[in-house]
Amino acid sequence: MEMKNWKQILLPYTQAVEELKVKFKSIRNHYISLDEYSPIEFVTGRVKKISSILEKAKKKNIPLEDIEEKIEDIAGIRIMCQFAEDIYRVIDIIRARDGKDLYIEEERDYITNIKSSGYRSYHIIIRYPLQTGHGEKMIFAEIQIRTLAMNFWATIEHSLRYKYKQNMPVQIQKRLTKAAEAAYQLDREMAEIREEVLKCQESFQLESNIIGDIFSNIQALKNKNNTQSMTEVYEMFWTLWEEGDMAKLKEFSESLQFPI
Ligand code: GTP
Ligand code: MG
Repeated sequence: MEMKNWKQILLPYTQAVEELKVKFKSIRNHYISLDEYSPIEFVTGRVKKISSILEKAKKKNIPLEDIEEKIEDIAGIRIMCQFAEDIYRVIDIIRARDGKDLYIEEERDYITNIKSSGYRSYHIIIRYPLQTGHGEKMIFAEIQIRTLAMNFWATIEHSLRYKYKQNMPVQIQKRLTKAAEAAYQLDREMAEIREEVLKCQESFQLESNIIGDIFSNIQALKNKNNTQSMTEVYEMFWTLWEEGDMAKLKEFSESLQFPI
């Protein structure tokens, strides 16, 4: 393969990463708009760097003309979850789309089968039908699903591994193994208090929605009323807000919407 073709080769992968990011972010937005808990916390994506593609091809003895067929992670998507349990909800969402807008090629469960490095994540290799200027093109993409703790560890470990290549000092290797164990324990602790955390996040979400409503109702009122009565409205709001009673604030919000 000639060097001048790289840009052309990578373009579909860039498009796929953009599209898949939008799709998974939309799932999150869907839950949020319904005031529901989202199993997806955030989504990132990247196209593998040319240098990394070359390295992987060399390591695995893949001829350059075969890279698109043999390297499945040129397009990579990462989905981060708050809780380990959420990972399985995301997997179900992806499986439900198998045969629709994507095709599952392989699943790699490094959560049940933790790697010797300490790496944990759930990988789904998909084939993604891309609509291009030259018609449909099927390309591979790798989706990694992990918790925030798994992601934190993998990010640090990756940068250290990159820095040291094959010569990672034993001391640092030991520390990484300990850190992997700590990340694992963190996910377990979080699972224990999941219900409690969810309740807190829900009430926080509800609260900010009520406050948001009050302010948009005040804005609507402002457009009709004079400043004199607005001062009263603001004073009422601050009094209730300091009291912190959500039921009263909700009532207040409704009274603004339908003023007597
Ligand atoms: P490469 O590891 O990319 O050469 O591919 P592979 O065919 O061995 O697939 P594997 O499922 O092992 O890894 C795919 C991807 O998972 C990697 O590119 C990394 O992003 C991630 N990964 C796998 N193992 C580790 C690990 O020990 N540490 C970190 N930080 N990431 C890992
Ligand atoms: Mg590997």
